Amino acid sequence: MSTTPDVMTAFTSGLADLNLDEDGTPRSGEKAAGMKSASATIYDMAATLSGKGDLWNWGMYDADLVEEIRARVPGFGEPWTDGFSEQLYFLALRDLPIGLDDYAGREVLEVGCGMGEGLNFLSRVVPGARMTGLDLSPKAVARATATLSRGDALRFVHGDAEDLPFEDGSVDVLVNIESSHTYPDLGRFLREAARVLRPDGVLSHIDVFTRQRSATMRRAAAATEGLEWVADHDISDRIRAAVRRRMAPGSHFRTTLNRRRMNPLMRQIVAHSQILMFGGMFAGYQPPPVIKVLSKLGVVPWMSGLPMESYRHQIAVRR
Ligand SMILES: C[S@@+](CC[C@H](N)C(=O)[O-])C[C@H]1O[C@@H](n2cnc3c(N)ncnc32)[C@H](O)[C@@H]1O
Repeated sequence: MSTTPDVMTAFTSGLADLNLDEDGTPRSGEKAAGMKSASATIYDMAATLSGKGDLWNWGMYDADLVEEIRARVPGFGEPWTDGFSEQLYFLALRDLPIGLDDYAGREVLEVGCGMGEGLNFLSRVVPGARMTGLDLSPKAVARATATLSRGDALRFVHGDAEDLPFEDGSVDVLVNIESSHTYPDLGRFLREAARVLRPDGVLSHIDVFTRQRSATMRRAAAATEGLEWVADHDISDRIRAAVRRRMAPGSHFRTTLNRRRMNPLMRQIVAHSQILMFGGMFAGYQPPPVIKVLSKLGVVPWMSGLPMESYRHQIAVRR
């Protein structure tokens, strides 16, 4: 039976492995299966530990966008969320060549939906759409189904981004947020996206990239037949703005953590680990002195993952 450190090692070495090749050679066989298994186990754990309303992306901050969301979604920014991760979801639809008032009856698929909270939020942004969330983590899908599903309006299925269990030409909009960086074969996912999208259907792809992964994405995108790439926006600054706001004293994240009963040192360690997981290094996070000492002793990690180059929103239309 594998232990938590074993799984973390498999996951991080899998991520590093995905970033080894400049030529973007897809991972296959045992390596790909190992990466997917580690990924499913980690997000199963996250689904067990997460609270109500939790999303799993780094979030973004854009004051104008907040106003737009408030105009469409009454009560946006209620006490259990700082709203940054939801802003990223809003952007995923707002910048597409389909008006937000034109979603009635459309099929929206999110690949890598986590516990479904982001898709649930989008169902409030564009009421009338039929939404399906798919994820590799059985526990995340089970939790989404138990807490959020609403018949055909919002349903969740277990599955793999590289082998989508949907008919050809059955989807109008495919959303993919901060998920594809762990797919062993990015090209296979893009081919699956092209297959399930209807003519004129749209792929909204949002993720963080290392330099190597960015090159892999460019190659895979160019090689995928049937997708016309119509936008590639670097949204790194807006992502960093959200991460910095999350880290700041008095933030929703800090206040929520301060309410939990634990000793002050443990609180600093938990804050440090979560900041690393939610994009701290990308936003220039410097750990407090006590964490630096603990990391020199090997008690807590110093850096998490690989150096990230940019965070992007890429849009393609099915031709
Ligand atoms: C960082 S989380 C983002 C979740 C959600 N999109 C959000 O923004 O809150 C990445 C998600 O991608 C899922 N995932 C990873 N590999 C996958 C795959 N091959 N197929 C489907 N989902 C996958 C994970 O289980 C996890 O739920």
